Amino acid sequence: MKKAVAFLALFLSAAALSAQPRGTYMVVDDTAAGIPVQPTMYGIFLEDINFAADGGLYAEKICNRSFEYDNPLQGWKTFGKVEVLDQGGPFDRNPHFVRLRYPGHPVAQCGLENGGWFGIGLEEGKQYRLTFWARTAGKPKSTGLLAVLCEPSTLADDQNLALEEITVTSSKWTKYEVMLTAPRTVAKGAFRLLLWDENHDAAVDVEHVSLFPADTFNGDDNGLRKDLAQALADLHPGILRFPGGCIVEGTTLENRYQWKNTVGPVENRPINVNRWTYDQFGRMFPDYYQSGGLGFYEYFRLAEEIGAEPVPIISCGMACQFENDPATDPDCPLDELGTYIQDALDLIEFANGPVRSKWGKVRAQMGHPEPFNLKYLGIGNEQWGERFKERFEPFLRAVRAKYPEIRIVGTSGPYLGGEWFDDLWAEMRRLDVDLVDEHYYSNERFFERNADRYDRYPRTGPKVFAGEYACHGSDGRKLNHFNAALLEASFMTGLERNADVVYMSSYAPTFAHVEGWQWRPDLIWFDNLRVMRSCSYYVQQLYSANKGSRVLPLTMGGKPVVNAGDLNATCAVDDATGDLIIKIANLGAYSQVVTFELPGGLTAAERTTLHSDNPVDENTLDEPSRIVPVTETLDLTPVADPANEWLLGVRNLDGGRIAFSGRLGGRTFAVYRFHRK
Ligand code: AHR
Repeated sequence: MKKAVAFLALFLSAAALSAQPRGTYMVVDDTAAGIPVQPTMYGIFLEDINFAADGGLYAEKICNRSFEYDNPLQGWKTFGKVEVLDQGGPFDRNPHFVRLRYPGHPVAQCGLENGGWFGIGLEEGKQYRLTFWARTAGKPKSTGLLAVLCEPSTLADDQNLALEEITVTSSKWTKYEVMLTAPRTVAKGAFRLLLWDENHDAAVDVEHVSLFPADTFNGDDNGLRKDLAQALADLHPGILRFPGGCIVEGTTLENRYQWKNTVGPVENRPINVNRWTYDQFGRMFPDYYQSGGLGFYEYFRLAEEIGAEPVPIISCGMACQFENDPATDPDCPLDELGTYIQDALDLIEFANGPVRSKWGKVRAQMGHPEPFNLKYLGIGNEQWGERFKERFEPFLRAVRAKYPEIRIVGTSGPYLGGEWFDDLWAEMRRLDVDLVDEHYYSNERFFERNADRYDRYPRTGPKVFAGEYACHGSDGRKLNHFNAALLEASFMTGLERNADVVYMSSYAPTFAHVEGWQWRPDLIWFDNLRVMRSCSYYVQQLYSANKGSRVLPLTMGGKPVVNAGDLNATCAVDDATGDLIIKIANLGAYSQVVTFELPGGLTAAERTTLHSDNPVDENTLDEPSRIVPVTETLDLTPVADPANEWLLGVRNLDGGRIAFSGRLGGRTFAVYRFHRK
């Protein structure tokens, strides 16, 4: 009898030791070789849509600085005697300039005012570098000008914030520079340049009027708005895709993105009508141009500064297929494709060529003799059909022949599936491209149900670049709701779990000015002074900052955690630190107890969560931190009573493994990081 009691006690204690807590149970297999996660996995798509570049990331504050818009004075107000001329300017590709003359009376004024794109944002105590080109155009040998930072709509006694006099001293075109300091912060300021001379014969010609904050990202000349570029850097991107998007293609071939127009001295880069000027819903007056100021040099430089691989996308000789009827023959004739192919080859030379090469020399003259080490090139954006296939193949062959080391990104068209998609994937496989660009702007249903999209893909052949995607709310308003971000996070577990198929990804679009957007949702919103990181931004950041080196099997009941009730999850290991990183999305409204079975020897752990009780809540410029990731330390102390299935915490298992149980909130995306010895 005594023996029987002792046996029962032993049995109960063994059972107690192996008792599992209630809830779901997931097993991490850290003995598996795993699948390498490419450093390029999570990246950024950068297109000048929604005034992302001119009026946004590009720090230039003057709109139409070269007087080259179709209406040369668009963006400017003039007063007094102001004339636009186009003969005799200093820049052959930007011929227009303005002439200011004595206005006819000593108290009258003559000058120009520029209000930027949506007003000029100025910050208290910050310096602004004004540069312009000028020459005297009247009889006096020198002529005075007055540069003014101002606030046109103010109840303050004085509109003027900062004033500097400049004397133009030559009848030859000369560059002038002056620093202006803003004494207070103004969201909608303006810049004025006045003829400041009482001589009746005074006249001066002015060209390329430019105003930059002295403090740009990384202190670069012709640089980027610091807060917006920092938001990009904080994404820790593996790639930077540029310049689009549809602007690669253009509404017509004439206004496609031509990279050669965006390098060399900034004053002589010709402007381009932005293809998105025609898509400004509710804003019918086209006023969207590209200065080329944030051009291909600035792009490569930014990629380098934020540690991302550049992935340029170039025109394949086809104008936007959505905006053109093929019957009108909008594309480059096949026998003229050579020009487009040469542009692609020259771009590679610009990025990587030696300083003595034609385009390598241009790069060196711009300040970067070392190559940019370009590895990827995308040919065409959202193309489809026979016309594309006819153009793509010669393109590909020419680039491969000259630069076999460059990895080619092909395309699967604008949609996530269907006839065009299948047709192009077959063609991309036939041509053995390196990566295929996929685009899916889809609704909640798609993102909810497709965390297994890539589980079904062939494991050989071209890799996937999920180059443009975002969850578009089916309420039609397409806002940056928390729910959309949560669904993206859930879907992205499938990108990571299939790291052998998916090599790159980028949410799109990235930026939107609140007063100038054409497209939403967007990752980052801004106005003239402020920036708001959306919930989707934080999802991208959490993935990127917690990428890991290899994906390990994470299973529930022997199967990957895909659509497991409301849960989708993935696990990666960071080989540099040994950290195990589990990303998990709970799409349900209620919390769940989740247990991870892990190797022993954990030293510490944290969990970062992104959560909102309200699925349609969002960050705003006024409240940019409503929904942000929150990090907490996890308690790894073993539970006191392992037999109690309700207790949460760590249980020691046979073989030195442990089970960590915790409660995961409803509508939550969480990243667990377990540190090991
Ligand atoms: O990201 C916005 C647009 O969506 C891109 O320019 C285009 O490629 C896609 O249609």
